[in-house]
Amino acid sequence: MTKIQDHNILVTGGAGAIGSHLVKALLERNCRITVVDNLSSGYRDNIPEDGTIRFFPLDIASGDQLDDVFQDTFDVVFHLAANFANKNSVDHPEQDLQTNGLGTLKILDRCRRFKVRRFVYASSSCVYGNYNGPMDEEITSFDQGTPYAITKLLGEQYTQFYTAYHGLSTATVRYFNCYGPGERPGAYRNVIPNFLYTALCGRSLQITGNGDETRDFCYVSDIIKGTILAAEHDEYCGQIFNLATGQPTSILDLAERINTLTKNASGLSLVGRRDWDSVVHRQPSIHKALAQLNFEAATPLDQGLERTLRWMQEHWSAIEEEQKNIEHPGSLTNPNIITG
Ligand SMILES: NC(=O)c1ccc[n+]([C@@H]2O[C@H](COP(=O)([O-])OP(=O)(O)OC[C@H]3O[C@@H](n4cnc5c(N)ncnc54)[C@H](O)[C@@H]3O)[C@@H](O)[C@H]2O)c1
Repeated sequence: MTKIQDHNILVTGGAGAIGSHLVKALLERNCRITVVDNLSSGYRDNIPEDGTIRFFPLDIASGDQLDDVFQDTFDVVFHLAANFANKNSVDHPEQDLQTNGLGTLKILDRCRRFKVRRFVYASSSCVYGNYNGPMDEEITSFDQGTPYAITKLLGEQYTQFYTAYHGLSTATVRYFNCYGPGERPGAYRNVIPNFLYTALCGRSLQITGNGDETRDFCYVSDIIKGTILAAEHDEYCGQIFNLATGQPTSILDLAERINTLTKNASGLSLVGRRDWDSVVHRQPSIHKALAQLNFEAATPLDQGLERTLRWMQEHWSAIEEEQKNIEHPGSLTNPNIITG
């Protein structure tokens, strides 16, 4: 095990909802940080103005200037840049493949050529497709329902290849539904920011399904803790870890909690399930991450929701301004929920 402290680190997607929290956590460990992000769904102001962070506004799929980025010798590369997420990939399948497939391959290949010590790939529970039952890391027969699920799995398989063939030390973390401060609402974003935004607007929350669907909502600081542990435990090479709470929450329960929290009296309504969304329950197995990484999510859902709500209230005017601009990929043009 190699503790992450004072290391030289690259975070792709470091301006995004999760990557920006990772950057802050690494700064607390006194790391020297480089961020590569084309700001397609991230925000420059998500990256702390710390004066030491190097920022490259590059597209990982084009590969331009990536060799320049890797002139620095990185101890660890955290690869979070991605075309996010399911609905976006259904609408833009080529862009999804470019970034999540080719972009991941280009980053992996630089890691090999420039002798990076450890590579961590941010994958998704989507790779389990509509598998019914506890999703454990050993499952290899998947039935992916969207281009995003396909390309996140492709990224995992490239990662496995670079470990098996080139000897690159890697870990893959499969995030279940991550939420927390910093994630703006949007047509391609997750259900929690979209429900919070809609509730704060005093509108009814629309559930795309019957509300019995369940997801595992994991607070962002817990996801970051697990991601860093996966980097540190370099005695495990090429391993995959689910990062989740183990606590299923139905979408109906989530909607009611958010209406109570925001004092939204407009209730909720059931609308039809989106035709590409065939996943009813996402039920992670969390044993491997506990046994090998000593990872356990610690933040109760209500506490995480309160913190996320507070952040959204504090940033309300910027969020409202963005929602007016329907051209921006983050705009909540479709009020239906997105379940990641
Ligand atoms: N949020 C979740 O619930 C969740 C769940 C499972 C997996 N994940 C994975 O976690 C990672 C981070 O997700 P997030 O929620 O922070 O999403 P995000 O959209 O906020 O972050 C992705 C970042 O990647 C950047 N990016 C996109 N395409 C790029 C390109 N071609 N070149 C360079 N940068 C590019 C975006 O600008 C953005 O800052 C992703 O890999 C995602 O697949 C997230």
